[in-house]
Amino acid sequence: MTKKTNQQWGGRFSESMDGFILKFNESVSFDQRMAFEDIEGSVAHATMLGEQGILSKEDVDNIHQGLQQIKDDIQNGTFQWSTELEDVHMNIEARLTDLVGIAGKRLHTGRSRNDQVATDIRLYTRKAIDSLRGELKLLMNGIVGLAEVEYDTIMPGFTHLQSAQPVTFGHHLLAWFEMLKRDDERLLDCRQRMNRSPLGAAALAGTTYSINRQRSAELLDFTEPCANSLDAVSDRDFAIELSSAAAILSMHLSRVAEELIMWNSVQFQFVDLPDRFCTGSSIMPQKKNPDIAELIRGKTGRVYGNLVAMLTLMKSQPLAYNKDNQEDKEPLFDTIDTVTACVHAFAAMIPHIKANRKAMRQAAKDGFATATDLADYLVKKGVAFRDAHEIVGKTVALAIDKQCSLDELSLADLQAQHSAIEDDVFDVLTVEGSVSARNHFGGTAPNQVKQAAMAAKQWLNG
Ligand code: ARG
Repeated sequence: MTKKTNQQWGGRFSESMDGFILKFNESVSFDQRMAFEDIEGSVAHATMLGEQGILSKEDVDNIHQGLQQIKDDIQNGTFQWSTELEDVHMNIEARLTDLVGIAGKRLHTGRSRNDQVATDIRLYTRKAIDSLRGELKLLMNGIVGLAEVEYDTIMPGFTHLQSAQPVTFGHHLLAWFEMLKRDDERLLDCRQRMNRSPLGAAALAGTTYSINRQRSAELLDFTEPCANSLDAVSDRDFAIELSSAAAILSMHLSRVAEELIMWNSVQFQFVDLPDRFCTGSSIMPQKKNPDIAELIRGKTGRVYGNLVAMLTLMKSQPLAYNKDNQEDKEPLFDTIDTVTACVHAFAAMIPHIKANRKAMRQAAKDGFATATDLADYLVKKGVAFRDAHEIVGKTVALAIDKQCSLDELSLADLQAQHSAIEDDVFDVLTVEGSVSARNHFGGTAPNQVKQAAMAAKQWLNG
């Protein structure tokens, strides 16, 4: 009889797997990226089995040695992956048995691929969160650095994309920082909830051996074992949670990207993006396109898509493990790769953005952005806010008529609008006066921005 393809579980089968179905069913082409986590999990499992007297010391030593050899081979690129062996778990186990014989066949005592894969994904995801958070810190560091330089650079703040009130560029940058800080908190929160060990849940119901689940959890730096074996093998909520945190992070990156794209346009000219992060046009020689920011904005789509794919694959699945869950990996890995690369790209680019201070300041002046300041000035002189609003509306109309900014109107013109206006009005009509007056925690006054940047740095170094 020829060798069956399904060597690892072929006992009850009378024929090999269909050729097309073999490819349809396999996951090794994408789950081999969890090979080191699979080995880590197996090392801990074997150690625990040895300590419990379930495996002999000799078997455990052989298993550890064999797994080390496999790790080396994978690192060197000499490991032979086989689709016939379906997934990363069976590829490694089969090779282990080739290398160390009977001890390799004993490794799967008291476990199943179901708790094994659930463990591998958690270990992989945990590492991915750590490296994503590292990239995020670099990006945030770059943003704070730029905010410190631009702490008193004046630009228009927008609502409805209309010039609203002057702000400082540093203040705007620190708004990005706050968004990303919450993303970091979400990632950490997700890591903590995910950091529990499924090992020992076996296929679904636990195992008849006297295993020590606390010990294997501890060996893998999990905080504790999952409390219910059915839940441990069946849920992928932790991967969905990471995908969701990543989707929110991508949404934030897309907003940053969008602003940079607009500000880099000839119409705004607020910023100049470094050449090495832009591309030219093959037909229009004058163009310098913000492709990298656009790509980051565009990649948000696949990150959202991956989240929806994972929510949908989990939906209505009865307990416990179902093969549907093999579909979690490609979207999860794609999300991790995509978001990590986007954060990395922005971390490299954002510290080198050049602010065009003149254009920013001019835009703040052109948009009558100090109109609210004039209204507040009148209120402080005893005018009711609604009346002040009306008066300032008329003053803006006058400035439009005269084609000048509010602070370019003469005192006589201003006093004609309301007799309470005196020559101290010009202190509030300038864009500098306007931002300096918003001098409270979370406000845009340059000295507040300086303090906020200091607090941000402290948080980063904390
Ligand atoms: N490749 C599978 C996955 O990714 C591993 C677990 C398979 N378990 C099973 N009973 N078929 O989920």
